[in-house]
Amino acid sequence: MAKIIFNDDEEAVVTDGAPIKAACEEAGVPFACEEGVCGTCIVEVEEGMENLTEFTEEEFDFLGEQEQERLACQCRIKGGCVKVTF
Ligand code: FES
Repeated sequence: MAKIIFNDDEEAVVTDGAPIKAACEEAGVPFACEEGVCGTCIVEVEEGMENLTEFTEEEFDFLGEQEQERLACQCRIKGGCVKVTF
């Protein structure tokens, strides 16, 4: 099982390989399009970027080349722990 820590405060356990969307939604991350085009669900990854799946094409299109932000409607967690803020 993998773990996501939100805003240094709340944590959620997620199955390895699962999308992070449901846990993020429960923690209060807002969503809109859920297709990687609006940017509403941006989260900042403080730690554990390596534990998330590769950027999707939608994330590259929206976020460009950088190593801090992800679209919570797009990525999955591979395992381990990821710390995010939103
Ligand atoms: S909800 Fe629109 S990009 Fe994720």
